[in-house]
Amino acid sequence: MASIFSRLYDLLQAARGANSTFLTDQVVPGANLSGKWIIITGSNNGVGFEAAKSFASWGANLILACREPPAWELHPTAAVNECKDIAAAQGHSSTIEWWQIDMADLSSVETFCQRWLQSDRVLDILCNNAGIAESTRQTRITKDGFQLVHQVNFLSHVLLTLRLLPSLARSAEPRVICTTSCYHHLGVFDLDHFNGEPGMKGIDYQNNKLYFQMWVAELQSRFLKNPEYLHITINGVHPGFVASGIWDDLANAGKAPGGLGFLLRYVAITTQQGGLAITNAATSLEFGPDPKKQGVGVENGRGGGKYINRIWEGPARSYCNDPEARSRLWIKLDEELGLQEKGLLTGLGL
Ligand SMILES: NC(=O)c1ccc[n+]([C@@H]2O[C@H](COP(=O)([O-])OP(=O)(O)OC[C@H]3O[C@@H](n4cnc5c(N)ncnc54)[C@H](OP(=O)(O)O)[C@@H]3O)[C@@H](O)[C@H]2O)c1
Repeated sequence: MASIFSRLYDLLQAARGANSTFLTDQVVPGANLSGKWIIITGSNNGVGFEAAKSFASWGANLILACREPPAWELHPTAAVNECKDIAAAQGHSSTIEWWQIDMADLSSVETFCQRWLQSDRVLDILCNNAGIAESTRQTRITKDGFQLVHQVNFLSHVLLTLRLLPSLARSAEPRVICTTSCYHHLGVFDLDHFNGEPGMKGIDYQNNKLYFQMWVAELQSRFLKNPEYLHITINGVHPGFVASGIWDDLANAGKAPGGLGFLLRYVAITTQQGGLAITNAATSLEFGPDPKKQGVGVENGRGGGKYINRIWEGPARSYCNDPEARSRLWIKLDEELGLQEKGLLTGLGL
């Protein structure tokens, strides 16, 4: 009986992700980001592109971390030009560029990080946003041997964040925003089939969003134990049920649930509205550092490790509050990515 209630509870929490309240500029006013450096993955399209445009209008220097996209997608060069026009219209002379990164290729993530670290810039905000919806049942394996969704949505962002930590740590109040999903509430914690092997419980997208949200909580708890990283704030955000290109993956694979077209048309929010979840988490005082725990920030800062449903803090799935489950995930990640061997767990522990 208890499990029926907890299942219903999880379904309810997932359904809350469809809240389509319209967010105005008054609700998400933005901030002065002049002189700040922001990296945002998957920013030639969808909510990432919208977030990039907002950041540009607020004066930030931006690196759009994108792959050379399929022909039908907006090319990052066009996305950069649009961001530059927006910045110029607001009187900013910021640097806005796109740098290649393929989240399905760990060596590409490494190359991107090397390039950034060699620039010796301080990274103020990292937005881990790129994602795909395709299901495991297609068994698409990357050249690194990982299931595609697992690597693009989750593993590559883990590597990216840990590699860029030294640069983030040099910022006064760095933030990391991970685009997770309300679907993390439907994920199954199944580490025996972490990479989507046959017999996996659940669906890869949901499972990986769950792992991502758990990792957010675990990484924040480890930051709090290390004076070098104490001031870094990491949160997971659900952008809303957004009518973006991500749903095309499902439709193209013939896996779109019935009525999806209707829901996208009449229930979903626009990508502009979805992007505000990222920009709000990146700039609002509320989702900034908690001065009592982190030594920086303002009085009402809530700190990190949270799940934010659009702009409202929500309960994360119970696993996210389970230190033992989180620790098992942390160790599993080390096994898959060789993090300790790469020196990426120094100061964070295994
Ligand atoms: N839409 C929703 O309702 C919803 C709900 C919850 C969470 N989310 C999350 O929000 C994030 C953004 O999704 P979206 O809705 O804005 O979808 P989208 O419009 O399809 O954007 C996804 C972005 O990820 C990029 N990407 C995909 N594979 C990549 C790879 N291998 N390397 C680098 N970049 C890659 C895409 O680039 P290309 O143009 O090259 O494909 C695109 O820029 C995702 O993490 C998604 O899971 C979305």
